[in-house]
Amino acid sequence: MKRILSGIQPSGRPHLGNYLGAMRQHIEMQEKFECFLFIADLHALTTVRNAEDMRSQTFDLAVSYLALGLDPTRTVFFKQSDLSEHAELCWIFDCITKMPFVERAHAWKDAQNKGKKDISVGLFNYPILQAADILLYQPDLVPVGQDQKQHIEMTRDIAQNFNNIFGETFKTPEAEIKEEVAIVPGTDGMKMSKSYGNTIEIFADEKTLKKQVMSIVTSSVPLEDPKDPESCNVFNLYKLIADPKETKEMEDLYQKGGFGYGEAKNALLQKILSYFAEARERYEKISNKKDFVHDILNEGAKKAKKVAEKTLEEAKKKIGYI
Ligand code: ADP
Ligand code: TRP
Repeated sequence: MKRILSGIQPSGRPHLGNYLGAMRQHIEMQEKFECFLFIADLHALTTVRNAEDMRSQTFDLAVSYLALGLDPTRTVFFKQSDLSEHAELCWIFDCITKMPFVERAHAWKDAQNKGKKDISVGLFNYPILQAADILLYQPDLVPVGQDQKQHIEMTRDIAQNFNNIFGETFKTPEAEIKEEVAIVPGTDGMKMSKSYGNTIEIFADEKTLKKQVMSIVTSSVPLEDPKDPESCNVFNLYKLIADPKETKEMEDLYQKGGFGYGEAKNALLQKILSYFAEARERYEKISNKKDFVHDILNEGAKKAKKVAEKTLEEAKKKIGYI
């Protein structure tokens, strides 16, 4: 059976982009594959600066996954910082990876281009820690959104580099990217991202959710005129969660004219609420069960450790530490 691994940072509340681009695949894949999924809280330390935020965002992400249908009896679900192996393998990779290779990473290049001078070593090193996260579990596939493609390519290069130097140790995994949801647009039409403040949060209270949906930027075509659905952010989000029949009906309304953006936004809001109705209910229930959630993550960490430990030991033998 193929093995899948993915991680997601607890850097804010999950949004439609996270869900459609990554989380939904993580949950669907547990039906067919052996799955490992972790909360990347070591990576989150590149931005989070407050213990309460770290704790609450980690908990919130765990609750979100469980509410969305992650089954901890089928997926090994854990927290990255519960295992020392990730940071340990990261150091090993640090020592065999050249600076210019890491300087090619988008996140670093973007920060450079913005003239940022105070970038942490951790942020620079981010892709190497990610390579360690992945390679420890020897997965076949890594399901992520388009923005992570480069990190998976770097992971493959790092695996090959280690294997060339010390002998065959790591499997080179493939990124698994769903093209139709590779880049989910945000309320301003740019890629939906916590860092752009253009998100629609799937577990926000109804009032906040409404505000976020109503803030979607639309064109100034008058209400009575026909509109082009494909160039409208509201439609582009709607079609990602509506079924084909509903999508076709919405498309016709746009093309006929007399259908305003206010109505389209309302339809999108109702669709989000119905699509996530069960998950939102479960979210409320699980949010109050702190011990239940912590027990799941602790169990997951134990299972993950067995696999990570074995791979790290293999790497250490190849290096000559043991
Ligand atoms: P953000 O950009 O909001 O900080 P993350 O970087 O934490 O999101 O991304 C978590 C996962 O969600 C990644 O696998 C990423 O590829 C996916 N993802 C994030 N935003 C989008 C988007 N707008 N469209 C598709 N996938 C996305
Ligand atoms: N960098 C990923 C993101 O921002 C999170 C992540 C960390 C990850 N380690 C990973 C994703 C390993 C896949 C595999 O979304």
